[in-house]
Amino acid sequence: MSQRSFRIAPSILSADFARLGEEVRSVIAAGADWIHFDVMDNHYVPNLTFGPMICSALKPHARTAAGEAVPIDVHLMVQPVDALAQAFAEAGADYISFHPDASTHVHRSVQAIKGAGCKAGLVFNPAASLDVLDWMIEEVDLILLMSVNPGFGGQGFIDSTLRKIELARQRIDASGRDIRLEVDGGIKTDNIARVAAAGADTFVAGSAIFGKPDYKGVIDAMRVQLKG
Ligand code: DX5
Ligand code: ZN
Repeated sequence: MSQRSFRIAPSILSADFARLGEEVRSVIAAGADWIHFDVMDNHYVPNLTFGPMICSALKPHARTAAGEAVPIDVHLMVQPVDALAQAFAEAGADYISFHPDASTHVHRSVQAIKGAGCKAGLVFNPAASLDVLDWMIEEVDLILLMSVNPGFGGQGFIDSTLRKIELARQRIDASGRDIRLEVDGGIKTDNIARVAAAGADTFVAGSAIFGKPDYKGVIDAMRVQLKG
């Protein structure tokens, strides 16, 4: 596998919601590179999670022991997009990604996220094509591919995503831009190497990490797979 730098982004969707600050600190101490924030509105997806106030509350906890800020990677599964994107930007989000089919004006939504000082990403559902990247590849900092249908953690990895990762990687390499390629859903220690081999560099993992007794053990095992 090429010496791409890899990032593990635990999703707090599977964390203990009664102890979120502690969970964020623990998973960072265990080696997490990003904190993945799965925002759901019970409209675009059939589930409801958390809003900008939780992001503000957790921002001070998203730091390493040395005090370095750990990026908060906000994944908006909401419709409409723009007002909430601005609210998360003000709440301290570092990356804000949204589903193009949830925005009436995708280019303007990306411009507004970047205008608010955040990095912008587009999210593609399992049946979604990458066509919008024909016109947006020069604008985005992140491409997020869903390897499950959005709304719930603990689902099985959809194998056709591997082909889409390869196509997205080809587009990124052809663009010559420094774009993160993140995959979200069903990522485990036993499949992360295949996902990386297809071209991904950033991995969301919720139920593979949270709810397990040893966060560091899981993250270390994932990194061993990525080195392989
Ligand atoms: C789906 C969520 C999940 C979550 C990861 O909308 O985005 O994909 O982050 O969940 P696991 O790792 O448990 O599949
Ligand atoms: Zn997500």
